[in-house]
Amino acid sequence: MDPSEFDDKFWTGKCLSAQLMEDEPFQSPEVDPLLRHFRDFEQKFECLKYLGEGKQGIVLSAHINSVQYAIKVFYPFTILPDSRLNPEEQHLYFNPFSCECRAFARLQDMNEDGTFAVKCYGWVKLSSSQVNDIRALCKEKDFIPWALVKELVSTAAHPNQLTKMIENIDIAEQCNLFIPDVQPSNYGAGKFLDLGAAKVLPYHPVYWPGYCFTQSFTDHRNRLRKWTVNESKFIDKYED
Ligand SMILES: Nc1ncnc2c1ncn2[C@@H]1O[C@H](COP(=O)(O)OP(=O)(O)O)[C@@H](O)[C@H]1O
Ligand SMILES: [Mg+2]
Repeated sequence: MDPSEFDDKFWTGKCLSAQLMEDEPFQSPEVDPLLRHFRDFEQKFECLKYLGEGKQGIVLSAHINSVQYAIKVFYPFTILPDSRLNPEEQHLYFNPFSCECRAFARLQDMNEDGTFAVKCYGWVKLSSSQVNDIRALCKEKDFIPWALVKELVSTAAHPNQLTKMIENIDIAEQCNLFIPDVQPSNYGAGKFLDLGAAKVLPYHPVYWPGYCFTQSFTDHRNRLRKWTVNESKFIDKYED
């Protein structure tokens, strides 16, 4: 665990902006995307129930200012000792929290919030009492005190949404948003839920060429076409 990702100022200017979420897109897609602060960050919020988890974090439903949201919290990131990137660069380009902030910010900068992926309402810094409440709901796992506030969806992706899901990959392509983990558990209500593994340009030059081929978007479309259906649910035989 690297203590810097717990620090109050660590992410600001890297993948987070101190600005509040506004309706208008706010940055050119040529520059590093920065996710803005959730508007109601000062409101008390109550976590209601556990919705699911994966390798990067846990998602809960929460009630904030009379609206229900999905809140994603992230496990601490482990610095890779043999990487060619220094720890700060690793946090920026590999840490799922940063990957997800950058990806949602890019969608917003391109006016595509809530189209390819669920809407993101911004980031919040959790207080220690919120961290304790969430830990109690999450089998006492550890996570960093930063969270993303997202649109809550109640259904897994349905086969009748497949055509739209395939069309929406054009949006990811226009946003230079490469998504390696295309699997049914990362889709809900026809939209992508989990951008924790997403890579977005500008990216570290040592790694981007491997990701930056148009073929990856074709692969994404083809992978969706190969999903089979069982009792109205998608199955991907290559799912991790
Ligand atoms: N916005 C959401 N609304 C409802 N459920 C969600 C939402 N986002 C995630 N989930 C649920 O939580 C699970 C884990 O979330 P995910 O973001 O994929 O975590 P990880 O990055 O660890 O894979 C998902 O498979 C899904 O069941
Ligand atoms: Mg996931």
